[in-house]
Amino acid sequence: MTTSNPRTSEYPIDNQFLDRWSPRAFTGEAIPEATLLTFFEAARWAPSCFNSQPWRFIYARRDTEHWERFLGFLNSFNQGWGQHASAIVIVLSKTTFAAPGTTEEKPAPTHSFDAGAAWGYLALQASLSGWHAHGLGGIEHDKIRKELALPDNYAIEAGVVIGKLGDKSSLPEALQAREVQSPRNPLSAIAIEGRLVP
Ligand SMILES: Cc1cc2nc3c(=O)[nH]c(=O)nc-3n(C[C@H](O)[C@H](O)[C@H](O)COP(=O)(O)O)c2cc1C
Repeated sequence: MTTSNPRTSEYPIDNQFLDRWSPRAFTGEAIPEATLLTFFEAARWAPSCFNSQPWRFIYARRDTEHWERFLGFLNSFNQGWGQHASAIVIVLSKTTFAAPGTTEEKPAPTHSFDAGAAWGYLALQASLSGWHAHGLGGIEHDKIRKELALPDNYAIEAGVVIGKLGDKSSLPEALQAREVQSPRNPLSAIAIEGRLVP
């Protein structure tokens, strides 16, 4: 077992998996673009079906011309705390691909799975670098599709806000109580030998 952050795993793992977490209190400082690009660089090295690399990260840094528009891509709950983040990212995946040796675009069977792996790498690199990446399902899909003029073969997977950990007293009381490193289901509930036991 491994203990860090303050979480304890059942089996020994690298601390980075326990150290990554999703706070909502951010300092609101600017993030250098070169720093942000290191997070996408980590995501770039994720594995994908046929190495098709279907992930796309469309981003805005705070204090840039894109910031307010991207903040409007979050639902009102997430805007409440996300406004103090340093970057907002919309994660897309390309839903079609041409298999090696072909030119015809066909449905990509694992575009979401692959994009999920890449986001995981991004989040771990952010955490290793002293930042935090917080995934967001609460985003405005129709608005994003329209304003980013997304072609039909690009799926909107999720949003991500990135920031430096701030003081939790900056959050409303209800969110202060949720500003904790969450536990996990037991390993035996998710890793099952042989067959699913619902
Ligand atoms: C795809 C995805 C969507 C999420 N959506 C939201 C969201 O809309 N708002 C929010 O406050 N947290 C959101 N979260 C954060 C999760 O609640 C959080 O990751 C989970 O509780 C586990 O906690 P941890 O990341 O601190 O380990 C999301 C996380 C992921 C990966």
